[in-house]
Amino acid sequence: MFPTHRCRRLRKSEPIRRLVRETSISVDDFVYPLFVTTGKMLKKEISSMPGCYQQSIDYVIKEIKELQSLGINNVILFGIPDKKDDLGSSAYSENGIIQNAVKAIKDAVPSMIVITDVCLCEYTSHGHCGIVEDKDVNNDKTLSLLSNQALSHVRAGADIIAPSDMMDGRISIIREALENEGFINTPIMSYAVKYASAFYGPFREAAESAPKFGDRKTYQMDPANRREAMREVILDLEEGADIVMVKPALSYLDIISDIKDNSFVPVAAYNVSGEYSLVKAASKMGWIDEQKVMLEILTSIKRAGADIIITYFAKDVARILHS
Ligand code: PBG
Repeated sequence: MFPTHRCRRLRKSEPIRRLVRETSISVDDFVYPLFVTTGKMLKKEISSMPGCYQQSIDYVIKEIKELQSLGINNVILFGIPDKKDDLGSSAYSENGIIQNAVKAIKDAVPSMIVITDVCLCEYTSHGHCGIVEDKDVNNDKTLSLLSNQALSHVRAGADIIAPSDMMDGRISIIREALENEGFINTPIMSYAVKYASAFYGPFREAAESAPKFGDRKTYQMDPANRREAMREVILDLEEGADIVMVKPALSYLDIISDIKDNSFVPVAAYNVSGEYSLVKAASKMGWIDEQKVMLEILTSIKRAGADIIITYFAKDVARILHS
């Protein structure tokens, strides 16, 4: 009771605040997303995501070296193929954009952890995450394509695969395929809890993956649902996921916290494109302090329970943490 208890005693100075601080973020937590295009010497800024680029493999390698010098050791790759078709064939071809990018990165910087996104939407002409029949994605027919895609990434040298398609049963199918091929030690980071979110808008420009008709609500989760998230997590863990992800992050901190409290695997959170663009836009207008808002957002994601944070801010934060 006051005045015996004065919370302000522990807030008196920065050194004391540092002593009792409960959460800190580090470059070790971050995964940086990269958008890889075919061709050479290409680097094009994504208009809705300032500071992020579509780039060809030669530029990606430069970027990887820069990341390494900033202490960021994890990347997740998204591919922009030169050809798309109904079945997303370039997603699982041996010489696809991601497969080539993985090989080149692992050759140049073997210690870089390369995570690949397993999903068909960047590779299909209709922009949906699987085989379309009767204006909807056919779950079971899509599974074998996803496992082919995952296998081709791992054969190319991917360290971790991250299925983001939201088909039921894909983790067990992919896990079985990896076991059968002898890839017994490749972790699966499942986008277990992925909401049908409007925060993906800028990414769809970046990855050229917007659906040509309809939306993704028959496979991605309803943003109104909280308990269902645990159901998705339990199923993916039973099927053999090693890390589970919540996406987006900022509007879903309650979900991150639930999963942290009710599971025993590392929890990842995806601080998605729209969350990044809002900050960049408001900062450009002079309405917010970009650095402080960015650090507050990332700290809140960590505080909610994320062990791993996928974020387009990774380089910006690394520069601050090193300065
Ligand atoms: C699907 C995928 C998406 C994102 C990552 N993987 C988009 C979608 O479901 O439409 C979004 C990432 C972001 O917004 O930053 N391959």
